[in-house]
Amino acid sequence: MFDRYHLRAWKFRNTLWQSHVRSVTGFLQSWNPLAKKLILVGPSGGYSLPVEWFRRFQMITIVEPGFIARRIVTRKFRGVTRVRSVRRALQFDHPGFFSDFDLTDTAVLFTNVLGQVKVSSAEAFAHAMRETLTGLEWASYHDRLSADHVRWKYPEGAVGRVYATSELVKNSISEEEAQAQSPKPQKRRNPIRLTRKREANKPPEVQEHLASDALAPLGPKRVMYWEWQIAPDQVHLIEGMIHE
Ligand SMILES: C[S@@+](CC[C@H](N)C(=O)[O-])C[C@H]1O[C@@H](n2cnc3c(N)ncnc32)[C@H](O)[C@@H]1O
Repeated sequence: MFDRYHLRAWKFRNTLWQSHVRSVTGFLQSWNPLAKKLILVGPSGGYSLPVEWFRRFQMITIVEPGFIARRIVTRKFRGVTRVRSVRRALQFDHPGFFSDFDLTDTAVLFTNVLGQVKVSSAEAFAHAMRETLTGLEWASYHDRLSADHVRWKYPEGAVGRVYATSELVKNSISEEEAQAQSPKPQKRRNPIRLTRKREANKPPEVQEHLASDALAPLGPKRVMYWEWQIAPDQVHLIEGMIHE
């Protein structure tokens, strides 16, 4: 299956995505799992991943349903460490979605997948994550909030708790306001196209993604936030969680 994600990655990974890629790198560098093996879930073509960081693992199991994605990411890890890939769309609302994986000495990294999955209910999702991840070292970065033409305010660096949506939304501003406030408006190579203005003082219509609610009760030790401008008119607030 060739999806739009690969086209976007090829178009934007060296421009719009650079800040996100740096944030993913910083996020992973702050994670020091002791496990010698890794299950890497949903890497697509690994476009956001700093492959050198993965050298610490003796073996990586890539779980990714996309054929092209598996080919690309597997090639990326060649020479870095031993890799095997599994064609699978995990059912994140079923406890034991890793039941046929060997979890001995194994950490788990979810790479921007849990914010987008379709699940039967938020409760089933939270239950399955708790049953499956308890006792494992894991990390996830995922979509936390998305909205049209909004720049997010978020805590800089690692924090010890998950922020409530109201806290994250409270100070968010429209892209236009952000540009107006900038002392030296910079010409962007790929400017955000404003097709619709948000009325001043009107809160944005925000889409909340489910991952945060499912993972927060597991008590992540570090939480980080950053923006990902995934396309010229689309900025997501990403939440990274680390549980060691
Ligand atoms: C947004 S992309 C990931 C982006 C990539 N990790 C990055 O940061 O650039 C989401 C990926 O998750 C994979 N995926 C979707 N549902 C999945 C599931 N149930 N189990 C495993 N992977 C899944 C998709 O095939 C896709 O490659």
